[in-house]
Amino acid sequence: MQIQKNISLKPFNTFGIDVNASFFVEVTSTEELKNILSNDQFKQIPKLILGGGSNVLFTKDVNALVIHNLIKGIEVVKEDNEHVFIQSGAGEIWNDLVKYCVQHDYAGIENLSLIPGSVGAAPMQNIGAYGVELKETFFELEAVNNETGEQKTFIKEECKFGYRESIFKQEVKGKYIITSVTLQLNKKPVFNTSYGAINYELQNKNAEANIKTISEAVCNIRRSKLPDPKIIGNAGSFFKNPTINKDQFDLLVSKYPLMPNYPTNPSTLQHLNTSAPQHPTYKLAAGWLIEQCGWKGKRVGNTGAHKDQALVLANYGDATGDEIISLAKQIQLSVKEKFGVDITAEVNVY
Ligand code: EPU
Repeated sequence: MQIQKNISLKPFNTFGIDVNASFFVEVTSTEELKNILSNDQFKQIPKLILGGGSNVLFTKDVNALVIHNLIKGIEVVKEDNEHVFIQSGAGEIWNDLVKYCVQHDYAGIENLSLIPGSVGAAPMQNIGAYGVELKETFFELEAVNNETGEQKTFIKEECKFGYRESIFKQEVKGKYIITSVTLQLNKKPVFNTSYGAINYELQNKNAEANIKTISEAVCNIRRSKLPDPKIIGNAGSFFKNPTINKDQFDLLVSKYPLMPNYPTNPSTLQHLNTSAPQHPTYKLAAGWLIEQCGWKGKRVGNTGAHKDQALVLANYGDATGDEIISLAKQIQLSVKEKFGVDITAEVNVY
């Protein structure tokens, strides 16, 4: 293991922000990870774990030991007539795991094709797209406590998955380093084509729904809307889609009848206090709200809201993290002024 000093993190974050890490190390196994955590020289130094760097925005130099998780390996650990359990190293590229499952006809994550980032980052924010969330196929994960070096298994219930949420962004934030993730995939799949654009793609190609055609359809939809971070720096959706209550919804929908909305059942949001009385809530499309405020395709210096998907903020040149934050704040303010709705960042800001 080679520990580097003062190195640029530009190649390690999809926004392409040029900040330095005071220390940087790549780990390729759980043993290497434990070794570095128990190294006296770094005991007192904060640690920051980087996977694919696709959900972070750096605003300043990182005064920490950045650990780049490159723990690889995909294997079948258990199987029965209906399911196959696949364990993947957290440092695998998420889309490589999807491709592996698509090739082997293991169903459940085909709708999550082409999401950037690493396998270890997937449970952090319960990645989701086109009607499917990771939690539906998630079985368990292994993680190492970064203070004690102890290994712990988190089963699904312990992860407290919600919309772009998990225990790893809340109660145990920064305390564990995920080393592997096990998914329970289906041999007898039930496909989710509830998202209109998937059906449209399938019909266009005259294709029946199967693991491969759905994966291809999702890849086509993503490529048509979402900029490739290798070409334009970005971190996917910058904001979460906001949830509002019925009173606020009734008011807004009477003013904007075409506003996209998705009724949500609060009891399915595990991170909320479910003992409280439950009222209907509505999720809105932040991209639509932002577009209505005139931001879609608008550039401010080196940054801007993307022309095909306003929810994606882009780095068109050598933008700094602060420039992107400043744009994000302006967007939040105009959405609040026009709609009275708060939109919060999905991306982790450092
Ligand atoms: N819309 C607009 N203008 C825009 C963008 C969207 O009017 O600029 C409208 C669309 O026409 C549609 C609605 O908003 O009616 C929803 O748009 P879309 O289907 O593109 O999805 P999204 O809600 O903007 C979410 C996820 C994406 C995921 C897609 C597809 C979040 C924060 N984002 O976006 O995830 O790919 O659904 O399921 O939930 C990510 O997390 O990085 C990400 C890309």
